[in-house]
Amino acid sequence: MIDRPRRNRVSPGIRDLVAETRLTPANLVWPAFVTEGSGVRDEISSMPGIFRFSIDELVRELTRAHVLGVQGVALFPVIENNLKDPTGKESLNPDGLLQRAIRNIKSNLPGMVVITDVALDPYSSDGHDGLVMDGEILNDETLPLLAKMAVAQARAGTDVVAPSDMMDGRVLAIREALDAEGFTKVGICSYCLKYASAFYGPFRDALDSAPRGGDKKTYQMDVRNQREALREIELDEAEGADWLLVKPGLPFLDMIRLARENSALPIAAYHVSGEYAMLKAAAAKGWLDYEQCLLESLMCMRRAGADILFTYGALDAAELLQGNR
Ligand code: PBG
Repeated sequence: MIDRPRRNRVSPGIRDLVAETRLTPANLVWPAFVTEGSGVRDEISSMPGIFRFSIDELVRELTRAHVLGVQGVALFPVIENNLKDPTGKESLNPDGLLQRAIRNIKSNLPGMVVITDVALDPYSSDGHDGLVMDGEILNDETLPLLAKMAVAQARAGTDVVAPSDMMDGRVLAIREALDAEGFTKVGICSYCLKYASAFYGPFRDALDSAPRGGDKKTYQMDVRNQREALREIELDEAEGADWLLVKPGLPFLDMIRLARENSALPIAAYHVSGEYAMLKAAAAKGWLDYEQCLLESLMCMRRAGADILFTYGALDAAELLQGNR
């Protein structure tokens, strides 16, 4: 035998030298839930190890994240029920929870990249990402609300806005509104390929944001489809997106690859709440090694072509990658 692939696997040193994919804490974004109060760490039952943090506790965790090399946080606010309404107007409140969290993080940790979600659902009494009228999720009527929400976040100091709502035309509406207010440096991470997935369940528990009626299939993509992703990529690029995000992560590796091959923009992948919950649940039963499976999941998304990985396991992964565990 002349050709022996095993020669390149013979030792850790050789394997590291020939490794085609690298994963570092700099690839990671930590999605975090923020809630009112102080000193609050409220664990989410379907996401063991993940908490709804009050702003002070969140800043403490982010300081730790920053030391570990994690440079991005994606914020999701837990909005009190009495503040929810059909138009999600609390999202525009300059002193609302999210806006206060942004200001606090940026003043304590200016180097932390703050990414904020643009969609109505955490603020909406209907639990949908857009405006609901007679059971229908309205597209064009939602766009100005999203644009104003993005501007409110930019005023508070966010670095990147991340429309996750899947309304048609929202990237352009947001870009124009940001530019009109002088926020030309605020980036847009478009949830470009976001599927109508059942893996978002634990996230909706965390925010109590499940749709009060119907589902999200008229706006999020159909899990059966691949080709229509090309249309979404083309549109988001033309509308001025800076990053394209694919979601969920591991079940959609083909879509990460497709996005990578059809765009020169940075590609992000979101290892979502249900993916995290599956690992934790199996590990709790002693059926899987959480740490190894987490790193493998993240590495596989990198291999498929993702540059940026959103994962609830960001701090765990960063510690493991730094050899601190
Ligand atoms: C809502 C939003 C969702 C997630 C991020 N932004 C849920 C949804 O679309 O219902 C899911 C994230 C996760 O499951 O981790 N705009």
